[in-house]
Amino acid sequence: MSFSFNFDVHAQTASPDDVDGSELQNGKPDYAAKPTEDKTKPAEPVKEAKEHLPPSDTHLLLVDAVPETVTVGTLPPLHFLNETVFEKTALEREDGENILSRTAGQRSDLISGVYEGGLKVWECTYDLLELIEKDGETFGRKRVLDLGCGAGLLGILALKRGARQVHFQDYNTTVIEQLTLPNVLLNCQEEDVESEDDEKGKGKGKTQKEDDCKKKVKDEEKQEARDGDPPPKKRALDLSQHSLMTKCRFFSGDWITFLALALKEDPSPKYDIIFTSETIYNTAYYPALHDTLHRLLAPDGLVYLATKSHYFGVGGGLHLFEKFVEQRGVFSVDHLWDVEEGLQRHVVGLRFKMVKAS
Ligand SMILES: C[S@@+](CC[C@H](N)C(=O)[O-])C[C@H]1O[C@@H](n2cnc3c(N)ncnc32)[C@H](O)[C@@H]1O
Repeated sequence: MSFSFNFDVHAQTASPDDVDGSELQNGKPDYAAKPTEDKTKPAEPVKEAKEHLPPSDTHLLLVDAVPETVTVGTLPPLHFLNETVFEKTALEREDGENILSRTAGQRSDLISGVYEGGLKVWECTYDLLELIEKDGETFGRKRVLDLGCGAGLLGILALKRGARQVHFQDYNTTVIEQLTLPNVLLNCQEEDVESEDDEKGKGKGKTQKEDDCKKKVKDEEKQEARDGDPPPKKRALDLSQHSLMTKCRFFSGDWITFLALALKEDPSPKYDIIFTSETIYNTAYYPALHDTLHRLLAPDGLVYLATKSHYFGVGGGLHLFEKFVEQRGVFSVDHLWDVEEGLQRHVVGLRFKMVKAS
């Protein structure tokens, strides 16, 4: 998998040492600040945040879906739409943001302020999945935010492992409507099949159960081919009422207005866990990202941040973000996992600093 950024803005190669803490906001929330005198444009994306409700005819979102599955160790399998589907069907899809044709035309992973990369699964998401598998985090009854979710695999994992609620946020409407939401539905579908099998085949091992699931789906497909019509169960299924789906909410928009929207709620949400993977590539977004984490993390909550060391051509990376966080003085940062081979990657955890009793 290649992870180069092909910007339609001028590339710049700020080294991590181009920034010192003094340039970073002096602890004040100032969204207009450009910590590295970043030439990446626009410095201030403003895409008004909004909530997306799942449509009641959810099956339409999955017509012609060709899902892929990622399985990491003992974690539940995660189903998602492969990014190539968007390249192939860009012209047929409704896309008010026009990002599908633009990204396909420019072969861009990212167009700053227009499309922030959510249509594919980025490498560090897989690192974070592996870390969760290793550490055994189970998410039982937790409130989870997948911030900058893209395909939403991290949030979906939390959902399947018993989170109480999972909120998904992505910059782009198109990503939420055409990728994140369908991906959650794909995973609900599988749950339906599994729960039926649970009834019939109690005591069977997981592998046997999975085989049974596959067989059942195949039988339905055969039936479908014979009838020339979807089987009744599939046709009638309204996954918007599925128990997993009812735990989810979906938001698009930039972090500034997303935070404002969240704070308007009474009570405003506080998350036990916030995932954010491959979201610190642009230093211009650090103030908004930091404020969002600061205001929405529960007092004893944990932010899992997965990132590359450095994003060539964009300028951000872990070193700059850690400096920024240190300057703000709100969070402590722990390195949870460092991958040294190739382009270095990391998973770090952010927690609120302990307030010392005077
Ligand atoms: C490179 S993609 C990573 C997607 C996904 N987390 C993954 O690891 O596959 C970066 C994501 O960060 C989010 N993002 C970046 N800058 C943002 C901003 N200023 N406001 C809101 N979201 C932003 C976008 O939603 C985008 O999907």
